[in-house]
Amino acid sequence: MKVLNMEFDPSEVYRPETDVGKGKAVEEYRNFKEGPLMDRVYNTYLLMHTNQTVEFVQKKNEEYGGCRRLQMSIMEALDLLDHVVDESDPDVDFPNSFHAFQTAEGIRKAHPDKDWFHLVGLLHDMGKVLALAGEPQWAVVGDTFPVGCKVQPSVVLRESTFHANPDMKNPSYNTEFGLYQPHCGLANVLMSWGHDEYMYRVMKHNRFALPPEAFYMIRFHSFYPWHTGGDYMHLCNEEDLRMLPWVKEFNKFDLYTKCEDLPNPEELKPYYQSLIDKYCPGQLWW
Ligand SMILES: [Fe+2]
Ligand SMILES: [Fe+2]
Repeated sequence: MKVLNMEFDPSEVYRPETDVGKGKAVEEYRNFKEGPLMDRVYNTYLLMHTNQTVEFVQKKNEEYGGCRRLQMSIMEALDLLDHVVDESDPDVDFPNSFHAFQTAEGIRKAHPDKDWFHLVGLLHDMGKVLALAGEPQWAVVGDTFPVGCKVQPSVVLRESTFHANPDMKNPSYNTEFGLYQPHCGLANVLMSWGHDEYMYRVMKHNRFALPPEAFYMIRFHSFYPWHTGGDYMHLCNEEDLRMLPWVKEFNKFDLYTKCEDLPNPEELKPYYQSLIDKYCPGQLWW
């Protein structure tokens, strides 16, 4: 069993008063009420919460889950993220490739001995290449939530964005458990389709030599209504509860390393290439 050191709190490091010019106060992140990017964010969630249905998710799992569309390396995928700006993110208005390095470097500072965890930081949003395959942002980015059961209170913008979703009219999808059994485990729940599930599928398909925690963190890192909101516990099994501290640990870096002070990818690439060579080398199927 791996020991997880959770003493380190990156929100301390990136706070303005301790690191002038970088980041912002913890409570200023994930503001879905106001801010310069709010129209874009709201619109992305409105489309997501209107169109992510059981049927849609099943179709996308079928379409992309087999990873038989193209071949490329991790570094090639990372370079593609230079062309993706996440339209659901109220805290970031720069290409996702920088966010990959920011997250990875934050983890590297706090967990110097866990090189596989550094790689998780680099890989976690790589599924956003879907946005360059013609997928709309609402089917790629943003928080995830289970489809096929009642939407829980901590789902962002729940009150104003689900009214036109056809699943809301299906009584069997709108009970506490909906399609699912109590404590069936999140692996058996259909999550709204996006970059988390897609990257998890890519990792599985290409047999990344990473520990189960790495697969799990990437698969559920956007499930804020669960890992931060505390909802959907009635669907979790023991495995989910065992993994929850890892997801929370990862989330600190995913969120609080976001700042306008951008890293230099060219300086960092040799180190991360060595991790790629160790855990997921060569041309992969996507
Ligand atoms: Fe993400
Ligand atoms: Fe991220």
